[in-house]
Amino acid sequence: MSDKKIDIFVCMGTNCTFRGASQLIEALRSEKKIQEYCSIHEMPCSDSVCDHSRRSPVVKIDDELFLQAKPEVILEEVYKRIKNT
Ligand code: FES
Repeated sequence: MSDKKIDIFVCMGTNCTFRGASQLIEALRSEKKIQEYCSIHEMPCSDSVCDHSRRSPVVKIDDELFLQAKPEVILEEVYKRIKNT
């Protein structure tokens, strides 16, 4: 098992916040195991991805981008990565 934490970035720009980024970050922060194995970061809007909220919320896990990120999908993906560390 590696000591390196999984980096999770959640866009907290206006469009993503409006489309559930706050609930998503809360869901991540409320999971003990995720706290233990991951670093959760807030990131500003990345204009190149934004597209007037059609892709919101935007999440990046390590270097992989997730668009229209639903909490259940992100949690599942994060747990999968924790299992593989
Ligand atoms: S507000 Fe999140 S990508 Fe623009």
